[in-house]
Amino acid sequence: MYGEKKQTSTRHHFCAHSQPPVAGRPSSEHIRKIKERKFSMTTIVPIPCDSYKLGFIGAGKMAESIARGVVKSGLLPASQIRTAHLGNARRTAFESFGVKVLDHNSQVVEDSDVVIFSVKPQVVKGVVMELRSLLSEKQLLVSVVAGVKLKDLQEWAGHSRFIRVMPNTPAAVGNAASVISLGAAATKDDGELISKLFGAIGKVWTADEKHFDAITGLSGSGPAYIFLAIEALADGGVAAGLPRDLALGLASQTVLGAASMAVNTGKHPGQLKDDVASPGGTTIAGIHELEKAGFRGILMNAVVAASKRSRELSNN
Ligand SMILES: NC(=O)c1ccc[n+]([C@@H]2O[C@H](COP(=O)([O-])OP(=O)(O)OC[C@H]3O[C@@H](n4cnc5c(N)ncnc54)[C@H](OP(=O)(O)O)[C@@H]3O)[C@@H](O)[C@H]2O)c1
Repeated sequence: MYGEKKQTSTRHHFCAHSQPPVAGRPSSEHIRKIKERKFSMTTIVPIPCDSYKLGFIGAGKMAESIARGVVKSGLLPASQIRTAHLGNARRTAFESFGVKVLDHNSQVVEDSDVVIFSVKPQVVKGVVMELRSLLSEKQLLVSVVAGVKLKDLQEWAGHSRFIRVMPNTPAAVGNAASVISLGAAATKDDGELISKLFGAIGKVWTADEKHFDAITGLSGSGPAYIFLAIEALADGGVAAGLPRDLALGLASQTVLGAASMAVNTGKHPGQLKDDVASPGGTTIAGIHELEKAGFRGILMNAVVAASKRSRELSNN
C-alpha cells in the first residue's frame, strides 16, 4: 500500500555539538587553536557518531575492555571494530565477541575513522611513526597511553586531530573513571564522540592536559590504594575474629556501597560520615583511630607522590 512504508533516513547523525561556523570575528579560542595547528590545514571532516569504524592499535587488556563496553552498550556493532595481533590468545579474545582481527596495524588504520593507540608507553613512538604516512586529519586519533603527551603524539603522527584519554583499570568491569583532553585540531564534536565512546566503560570528564599527572595520581593509581584498603579492612575483620571469606566479602561490598552513596546521594562525604557517626558510638571510635594515625594525610600524600612520579616519568 502506498504511503505506509516507514521512511529510512540515509543521513548520518553527527554529534550534538555540530554548529555552523558563526560569521563575524573569530573567537580568541578559535585564533588560539589555529595558531597551535602547526601541521596540515586540511578541512576537518565530521565523523558520524553512530556509524564510524573504530580501530585499536594494540590488542591488549585496555583495548579489549573498551571494545567490549562499546559493543555491550550498543554504541557500535562489533562488525565496525577492528584490531591487529598475530597471537592466538589475543585474536580469540577479540573474535569471541565479533571484533575483526587483522594481521597488520596498517590494515587497521586504512579501515578506521577513529584510531585508538593502546600499546605500552615504551613502544608508542615507534608504532605511531611507522603508521605516520597512513594517518590523515580525516581520522580522529586517540591515545590511552599513560604519561605520553599530546605534543609528542601530534608530532609523531604529523597532525593534531588527536585526543588523549586517561582511563583506569575498573574499565574492565565497566566502571572506569576516564579523563579526556583535546589536541589542537580536535573539534568539539570529536570530544563529544570520544566522551560517548568512553562513556560505554564508565564515567568521563574533560580536563586540560596540564592536570594529567594529578589525574594519574588520583584516578589512575587510586584503584590500587583502595585494593590495599579493602585488604586491610578484611585483615581487621579477621583480627576481630571473622572468617577470611566473610571479612573480604564484607570489606569489598562496604567500599562499593560507600562509593555508591558518595556518587548517588549528592551529599558531601563529610556529611555522609557525620550521618553514621553517632555520639559515643562504634563508628566515631573507629574514626578516632584513623585520625590519630593520619589517615587523610596519608591518602593525600599518596596522590601527591604518585602525581610527582607521573610528572618525572612523562618528562623523561
Ligand atoms: N590497563 C589499564 O587499566 C590502563 C589504564 C590506563 C592507561 N592504560 C594504558 O593503556 C595502554 C595499554 O595497556 P594494557 O594494559 O592494555 O597493556 P597490554 O595488555 O600489554 O596491551 C598492549 C598490547 O599492545 C600490543 N603491542 C605491542 N607492540 C605492538 C605493536 N608494535 N603493534 C601493535 N600492538 C603491539 C601487545 O602485544 P603482545 O600481546 O604481543 O605484548 C599487547 O597486546 C598502555 O599504554 C597503558 O599505559 C592502561
